[in-house]
Amino acid sequence: MAESMSGLHRSCRCAELSKADVGKEVTVMGWVQKQRNKGGIIFVDLRDRSGLLQIIFEESECGTESFAKAEKLRSEFVIAVTGKVCEREGGINKNLATGEIEVRALRIRILSESETPPFPIEEDSKTKEELRLKYRYLDLRRPDLQRNLILRSKVSTLTRQFLAEEGFLEIETPILNKSTPEGARDYLVPSRVHPGNFYALPQSPQIFKQLLMCSGYDRYFQIARCFRDEDLRADRQPEFTQMDMELSFVDVDDVIDVNERLLQKLFKETIGVDVPLPIQRMTWQEAMDRFGSDKPDIRFGMELTNVTEVVKDCEFGVFKGAIENGGTVRGINAKGQGNMPRKKIDALVDFAKGYGAKGLAYIAIHEDGTIKSSFAKFMKEEEMKALIQAMDGENGDLLLFAADKNKVVWDVLGALRLELANQMRLLHKDEYKFLWVTEFPLLEWSEEENRYTAMHHPFTMPMEEDLQYLETEPGRVRAKAYDIVLNGTEIGGGSVRIHQNDIQERMFEALGFTKEQAYSQFGFLLNAFKYGVPPHAGLAYGLDRLVMLMAQMDSIRDVIAFPKVKDASCIMSEAPNIVDEKQLEELGIAVIASSEKKEDEE
Ligand code: AMO
Ligand code: AMP
Repeated sequence: MAESMSGLHRSCRCAELSKADVGKEVTVMGWVQKQRNKGGIIFVDLRDRSGLLQIIFEESECGTESFAKAEKLRSEFVIAVTGKVCEREGGINKNLATGEIEVRALRIRILSESETPPFPIEEDSKTKEELRLKYRYLDLRRPDLQRNLILRSKVSTLTRQFLAEEGFLEIETPILNKSTPEGARDYLVPSRVHPGNFYALPQSPQIFKQLLMCSGYDRYFQIARCFRDEDLRADRQPEFTQMDMELSFVDVDDVIDVNERLLQKLFKETIGVDVPLPIQRMTWQEAMDRFGSDKPDIRFGMELTNVTEVVKDCEFGVFKGAIENGGTVRGINAKGQGNMPRKKIDALVDFAKGYGAKGLAYIAIHEDGTIKSSFAKFMKEEEMKALIQAMDGENGDLLLFAADKNKVVWDVLGALRLELANQMRLLHKDEYKFLWVTEFPLLEWSEEENRYTAMHHPFTMPMEEDLQYLETEPGRVRAKAYDIVLNGTEIGGGSVRIHQNDIQERMFEALGFTKEQAYSQFGFLLNAFKYGVPPHAGLAYGLDRLVMLMAQMDSIRDVIAFPKVKDASCIMSEAPNIVDEKQLEELGIAVIASSEKKEDEE
């Protein structure tokens, strides 16, 4: 039967003990990792969040009753043990923080028993993630996940400390909000009091933090839960956490300065990594031209080369056609991959097609200088030579080319570059390369909506020198927006905001809103701007992504206690679920069965 805590006090956690404690009587509590009965002596590995500790039971020391209890122990029983810290008799275990000591038990209480868990609780689990997520409370006992969540907690604590010292106030903003149509799809919450009306969960605290600047709070931060109903990927969750901030009376450099110092502190004080300052900056245009991506991974080179000029007069239809259609031809040089088998090259072509390419042209230069190419027959010898030279092609290199509209070429080569780096094992998780990407385009054309949409959000300030093009050439306007990129992942983004009503109205117009629409959606912000508003700017990190990279994990699920899976459900709690008819009635909601819905759509 499970015993109680009465009269019992834990003196420390398991792995807080060391050789310095030899001779002390201690009381430790935790889970049985393993029990081994070697006849007259029982070994127990006891586990808590600090680590493992070896406990020894001998009947002559702990008495008959305790020894009998120790014989019963199985994995995941919760016990309390009082005993004496001793140097290890059976030799030092170098793999364990407490490997030099053991506790010789005097008394034990079994606080709780355990059924056999559905999978072993151990580091580097080989158990399928789906099963682990079903029993997430057991999965979370594993040392790797505990380390990740401890790291996450440290990052939050240090951020709070740092920002408080820098004069930021922590202020909460509402979770039940009004839906606004920009950005991702909203999660909606029905209102009982206002039948047929809905709140939207925040995609970010953006408007509220700007209002706080209007209200004179000067510097705000919040570790804020955000909700976006988008397709999930390894670095995306429907609910995630932002470390969100906003500052008054500042420009781009001020935001960058405070954030560089924050990042430097976080990396040094959690994982001991030095972040040299200042962090490199690159404009969006340069990032696209050199890396085909607005979040370039700069741990390795393999940069894009624009060869449009070099091939513009050749007879290869693919290149010629693309250039005539206003596109470009660009290539990357996969150094040392010239002997890649045909099958593998074909797989790269398929990979490129997955990113919208119509094909992928290549030149493989073998070690002996012979050339295999998918398009040499359309080219003159000098043209091939010039192309190889432009690509810095040497014996043993593989040159890959995409010809299309810029956007397609960038997407394809940007992705291909990462794929090749992965295959060539150029990506090291313990190498941290930061980059600010600046001067993003303010607007991007949406084919789907047949209008311009805001690349960051509608409150982002255009660069002063480009403001003149807002009506005439909207696509040309650059924004005072910046992203912080780490190893090819966008860990944060922000901008200087528009604080002038006239510019904000022009921005809404550029986005295709009428004045009435703008006021009906964002009237409270536009009105607030009539009453004295400081110039302001801000930034938000994706905390989950940041911690994922710090912990060297591949998925943000590994740094979130209770994550959702691909279809946005929680395998453990089985959310979302069908609710009671009565609840729906109260909310004035009728659910259309999915078969009916289908018929309706047809
Ligand atoms: P943005 O939309 O760029 O900016 O979001 C900021 C950061 O949040 C992270 N992030 C996500 N993380 C996990 N799952 C998601 N679905 C997800 N979506 C975004 C990213 C991203 O860089 N209000 C602005 C910030 C500002 O301008 O101050 C905003 O929300 O790491
Ligand atoms: P084709 O003339 O279509 O047989 O193509 C000849 C070569 O050009 C093949 O290797 C194709 O994969 C490649 N190719 C086709 N379209 C493109 C493109 N848009 N960009 C780069 N290469 C292409």
